[in-house]
Amino acid sequence: MIDVRPLDAPFGAEIAGLDLTKSISAEDFRPVHDAFLQYGVLVFRDQELTPEQHIAFSRHFAPLLIHPIESQWALGYPELLQVPDRENVNADTGKIAQLPWHSDLTYAERPCLGVLLYGKEVPPSSEGGATGFVDIIAVYDALPAPLKARIENLEMLHRFEGDGESEVAKRITALISPEDYAKLGVTPHPLVITHPELGRKALNISCLYAYQIVGLEPEESRQLIAELSAFAAQDRFVLYHEWRRFDLVAWDNRRTMHCATGHSGKYPRIMQKTTLIGDFYRDISVRHELHTSAA
Ligand SMILES: [Fe+2]
Repeated sequence: MIDVRPLDAPFGAEIAGLDLTKSISAEDFRPVHDAFLQYGVLVFRDQELTPEQHIAFSRHFAPLLIHPIESQWALGYPELLQVPDRENVNADTGKIAQLPWHSDLTYAERPCLGVLLYGKEVPPSSEGGATGFVDIIAVYDALPAPLKARIENLEMLHRFEGDGESEVAKRITALISPEDYAKLGVTPHPLVITHPELGRKALNISCLYAYQIVGLEPEESRQLIAELSAFAAQDRFVLYHEWRRFDLVAWDNRRTMHCATGHSGKYPRIMQKTTLIGDFYRDISVRHELHTSAA
């Protein structure tokens, strides 16, 4: 019996009573999909999954993306990405795999619908490694009316290296191969997006990948990005997931940003993810060829 348990947080829910090593019927999946839309982040505990089982369950949500960063494909599965870990060290804090707030793939023309991230090996929570989530619909709703009006029709350029200047911009660029980097471009997206299934507006700020707001002077753009980023990161919009081994966490990338708080490196941390193809908020898909795993 599937049990949807809201988290003790502004959003998110745990799904109990479902064994993801078994095949799931469409009928069993329906309440999971409903909860995915309602809560934005779903946690499935104690699921010891093979890559095939992770991939098979993910396909219930949407077709899977063959991620453009080929150098991070995991275990020979092009649908499965290995999250960079020990090679990703923050030079300022010494923490491993620490990343600021972002929605995934907003540097691409067609950002993803969602992600299912699996904790194959995780450190004790006292060593860090939590993942944070922000509800960008709640953020938009809470913006002061003048700020909403100011950003309503603005577009922002996103790129993989974000501002290009920060420690993290240089670090993540060094993580991918020159061939992969050459595939990535600079992509405009609306600052205010409408969730295609919920019909609700969300603040599409994706801080890590934010480059420049179109039509503003660089300094004005920088200030507005900083103001919106600080507003979005307030505790009232945030939940932190502390990982246990064999957790699977699914998030709606159209409704959330996430961050990786980083860990000490004393213990192994192996995280793998599948990426759901975006249904999208703006029709520029004609310019972007995607390969589905079903093809
Ligand atoms: Fe991410």
